[in-house]
Amino acid sequence: MSEMSRRQVLISGGALGALGALGIGAAAQAGIGPPTGLDPRWVWDAEADPLVASLLDRGAVPEVNRLLWNWTRNDQPLPAGLPADLVAFIDGARQLPSWADQRKLELAAEFNKSRGFYLNLLNGVGGGMLSTAIPKEARAVYYSAGGANMEDRVAKTSILGFAVGSLNAYRPDGNCIVNSVKTRLVHAGVRHLLQQSPHWTSGIPISQTDILVTWHTLATFAMRKLREWRVPISAADADAYLHSWQVTVHMLGVRDEFIPATWEAAYAQSDQVLPPNMGPTREGVELTDILLGQLAEQTSPGSISRPLCNALGRFLVGDQVADWDQIPHEWVWESVIRNVWPILVRFREGLVPLPLVPEMAWVIDEALRQYILFFLTKGRETKIVIPTGNRPS
Ligand code: HEM
Repeated sequence: MSEMSRRQVLISGGALGALGALGIGAAAQAGIGPPTGLDPRWVWDAEADPLVASLLDRGAVPEVNRLLWNWTRNDQPLPAGLPADLVAFIDGARQLPSWADQRKLELAAEFNKSRGFYLNLLNGVGGGMLSTAIPKEARAVYYSAGGANMEDRVAKTSILGFAVGSLNAYRPDGNCIVNSVKTRLVHAGVRHLLQQSPHWTSGIPISQTDILVTWHTLATFAMRKLREWRVPISAADADAYLHSWQVTVHMLGVRDEFIPATWEAAYAQSDQVLPPNMGPTREGVELTDILLGQLAEQTSPGSISRPLCNALGRFLVGDQVADWDQIPHEWVWESVIRNVWPILVRFREGLVPLPLVPEMAWVIDEALRQYILFFLTKGRETKIVIPTGNRPS
């Protein structure tokens, strides 16, 4: 893209983002690509949806999953034997957008590494708690096949999270393209299958707005929290981090016109789409309880208790979401975390010396490390596959 047109995109993104914040414009117009007037609430995935519906109806999915199991590297040719329509789709879907900037992706990878601790915490624990407070997502997860085994589901979802954050994410030897394309196929499968569930009454699931809502609970939420915690971030790093998520959401099938072009556009779109799409559900409460139980269980015995996990969850997502998710108050732990967290951040950033870091900070630090490690390990044991049914009721 020429410098001039890049600037025009950025300028229009910013201006339209501001309109969005005023509630005048549309999330639909703050994007990288030129607007077409489509409304992302009523756009799904025109290419993947009919394809996967047909694969499911033809009974081809188990064999497709078997063949794709060892398709893992970005540069890897597809295995022989896949249906021709699927091959045609993947050949297109695995191409990076023309605006992908390898230099920025490399910088984002470095940023993900240096800020990995915070990002894993924010995207893993924080993003998980937020997603259970998005009614459509909580219900979709609960009533789809993966809802019956949340440990496996979290591990699977973390595969993409770690793929985005890894150093070779979009390099030929990385796996982010593969996992994004597989996720796009999974979402298409869910769209077809969930509508057959007696529990699902919300029309076609996973619209482009829904994907953007979740995207904001990952990328935008993380950037806002890093800023709130005063983690130093250069403008180039912030831009690169945004870029890596822009590329990823494009690879998940979201149209460029809906993808925020700048952080300003992202904040505006987030403020516009999150509030109407968040709230409490019975399913969300149950999923949160499972997630926090896992966090407590997976870290080494004695180092982190369920009350500490509850307090951490509440600290990350704030009172409103925590109340929707019915995370119990743990007044003592909440005040401990509020007090030690800024010190821990400053220590990690080399801004305060060791003797000033209270013992409690290390309990939290260590617990989170173990949690992250656990899901890193789990994620390696499993792979993303297209579901063939819903949650067994
Ligand atoms: C599956 C990521 C948005 C619902 C997955 C998987 C990943 C993923 C990596 C594969 C793991 C698995 O099979 O369990 C993402 C990302 C999103 C996003 C990065 C947005 C940026 C959404 C939204 C919904 C949703 C908006 C619902 C409203 C589901 C469901 C599954 C799934 C139901 C399948 C679970 C199953 O196997 O039964 N997603 N997702 N996702 N996603 Fe998403």
